[in-house]
Amino acid sequence: MRIDVLTLFPEMFTGVVNSSILQRAINENHLEINIIDYRKFSLDKNYKVDDYPYGGGAGMVIEVEPIVLALRSIPKGYTVLTSPKGVTYNQDKAKELSKKDHLIIVCGHYEGIDNRITNYIDEEISIGDYILTGGEIAALAMIDSIARLIPNVLGNQESLQSESFEELLEYPQYTRPEEFEGLKVPSVLLSGHHENVRKWRRFQSLKKTYERRQDILEKANLTKEDLKFLDLIKEGKDLEF
Ligand SMILES: C[S@@+](CC[C@H](N)C(=O)[O-])C[C@H]1O[C@@H](n2cnc3c(N)ncnc32)[C@H](O)[C@@H]1O
Repeated sequence: MRIDVLTLFPEMFTGVVNSSILQRAINENHLEINIIDYRKFSLDKNYKVDDYPYGGGAGMVIEVEPIVLALRSIPKGYTVLTSPKGVTYNQDKAKELSKKDHLIIVCGHYEGIDNRITNYIDEEISIGDYILTGGEIAALAMIDSIARLIPNVLGNQESLQSESFEELLEYPQYTRPEEFEGLKVPSVLLSGHHENVRKWRRFQSLKKTYERRQDILEKANLTKEDLKFLDLIKEGKDLEF
């Protein structure tokens, strides 16, 4: 997959793109990321890309022209504008975008971009109901979550299947030591009894999703066993082995 990012702050991408799973995905040719500084496409002799808003008001607005010129300098791809006014990003959107061969992400800054940019993009995406200084952190959140979904990027494909939002919220995870400051790892996880571990994890996933995200639970495909577990959870009971 190819991802091009149009930004005024390319340096914000260096650390994240060169670390961890993203770096590995790039090194193993699953992912190509190009960071394009659209200031370079300004026709102004001082490379200015922003100007005062028509009609007055605070702050500066990014001109549409440098971004359109930057878009025309690369092959066409599915183009997303980072914007607090966009549809809210989630795991389903990450999955949808991970299937594109070529994704282009446009990052705004200052007061945003001249609204005419909407004629040159496919979709506006927000990463949540808060205002960021620029689209770079939004673009990084999207790139990171998309990269994990590209086939063979994660070493262990199983870790994708049990992750939160794949169906229910993920069950709690533990590692060494068995006891830390009196806090013990649940004994079932040390038992070596695979079926009980599976049941415990499913129960915990259902419990956490019931307590925190009933909206996800309503959409989940629940088995007979899940419904029995949910009855216990609603009665405040625990699973006994
Ligand atoms: C300071 S914001 C502009 C906010 C704009 N004045 C408004 O009220 O809608 C600058 C840029 O940050 C990015 N941005 C801010 N919040 C965002 C969010 N929640 N999701 C995605 N991008 C965001 C967008 O690219 C936006 O153009």
